[in-house]
Amino acid sequence: MAETEPRTETVSMDKIVSLSRRRGFVFPSSEIYGGLGSTYDYGHYGVLLKNVIREKWLRAMVQERDDIVALDSAVILHPRVWEASGHVEGFTDPLVDCRTCKLRFRADKLDEQHCGRQPSKHPGETEDCDLTEPRQFNLMFETTVGALQEEGARAYLRPETAQGIFINFKNVLQLARRRPPFGIAQIGKSFRNEITPGNFLFRVREFEQMEMEYFVRPAEADEWYRYWIDERLRWYLRYGIRESRLRVREHGPEERSHYSRATSDIEYLYPIGWSELEGVANRGDYDLTRHTDFSTTKLEYVGPEGERYVPYVIEPAVSIERIFVALLVDAYDEEVVGERERTVLRLHPQMAPVTAAVLPLIAKSDDMVGKARSLYENLRGRHRVEYDDNGAIGRRYRRQDEIGTPFAFTIDEQTLESDTVTVRDRDSLAQERLPIGGVRAWLDEALDRPWKTPKSD
Ligand code: GAP
Repeated sequence: MAETEPRTETVSMDKIVSLSRRRGFVFPSSEIYGGLGSTYDYGHYGVLLKNVIREKWLRAMVQERDDIVALDSAVILHPRVWEASGHVEGFTDPLVDCRTCKLRFRADKLDEQHCGRQPSKHPGETEDCDLTEPRQFNLMFETTVGALQEEGARAYLRPETAQGIFINFKNVLQLARRRPPFGIAQIGKSFRNEITPGNFLFRVREFEQMEMEYFVRPAEADEWYRYWIDERLRWYLRYGIRESRLRVREHGPEERSHYSRATSDIEYLYPIGWSELEGVANRGDYDLTRHTDFSTTKLEYVGPEGERYVPYVIEPAVSIERIFVALLVDAYDEEVVGERERTVLRLHPQMAPVTAAVLPLIAKSDDMVGKARSLYENLRGRHRVEYDDNGAIGRRYRRQDEIGTPFAFTIDEQTLESDTVTVRDRDSLAQERLPIGGVRAWLDEALDRPWKTPKSD
């Protein structure tokens, strides 16, 4: 095995953006029209990775539990939903304009933003800065429903998926025959007209939330709140995120949203510093009570003995985008192998967009190609596998390293003689030989093995 020299680990957001682009994970959206700024399109590997994130979240939330059911509600809801939820009135950020550089800033985050003049300082710091008084700016995107652009036709693109869950509380209670504690999980797009989007996918205007509303007896809310913080932390560790890069930060009363009785952020150490990856909130009975008031439909639990109460809600909420960036940052590594540099995504094998590559050593050899294609056909029904016979083998390995493929099966001369293949391990670069007929079972077993990143803390 080649000797490797580990490098000190500092990954910038620029490196993540560049790898994402180079390997077709993520592209800036509407690029041929000059881009739209902070909106992104996902290429093949980006789509695969997002699918894995969704699948693992649903696995933990729904498949492995008896107490949570799934839901997929509409993006455009009745506008009264957003009055009841408090978003029409209160889902705002304070905004200031600069009359000099004509840029807009979040008034509460001036120290994190850059002024339009050169050399750039924080807004308000140069003599030329001429900032307006802050005014409240609602982050919901408005649209109209139907052909008429009149007042009654105004609607919003949902800024969170949670409200679609609350307004379906009664349906689920009755049809899924649930009693607290139980949860409803939903994955779907949310939209926010962020004043200062940026840092790649970290803050975007269109993102995909994964939210779960867990309905509990009010007296048990605090216990479940702690439970869900722990449970979500465990999920990140299960999929290989380094413990040293995760922490929990409890919000002070002044920081909490209008609905929250308690909130904790699970933070990740992104290249921009410790920042919110996921939020876990105790929303109390705020949402069910408000929707009961506004809709006049009673949203409460009535037990078999006639006991009735409005459940409290514990909510873990995260976007696929924040997990996507955290996974790439945590996995990104560069090292020198022999004389050569390699970039490698050390993703948890179960999280990798491609689980295994099948590579015939010589693309011109019909025998090798035939064996490789048949192995590929054998594996693809069960796993995300990629066949590649394009270019020198070293280049093909490097490509797979950069998209994080944990295993590569190579078909070579010896395969033709002994029906064995080599398997190359992405992290250690170790190679071993296996009977070709045993590859499928080997891969199943390898994916079930405990995995720990070889990256240092
Ligand atoms: N239902 C509660 C809620 O939406 P939030 O803290 O505003 O709470 C929840 O959002 C999660 O959604 C955040 O922890 C983050 O993971 C993600 N998120 C929020 N705004 C985002 C944005 N502009 N871009 C990407 N992800 C975002």
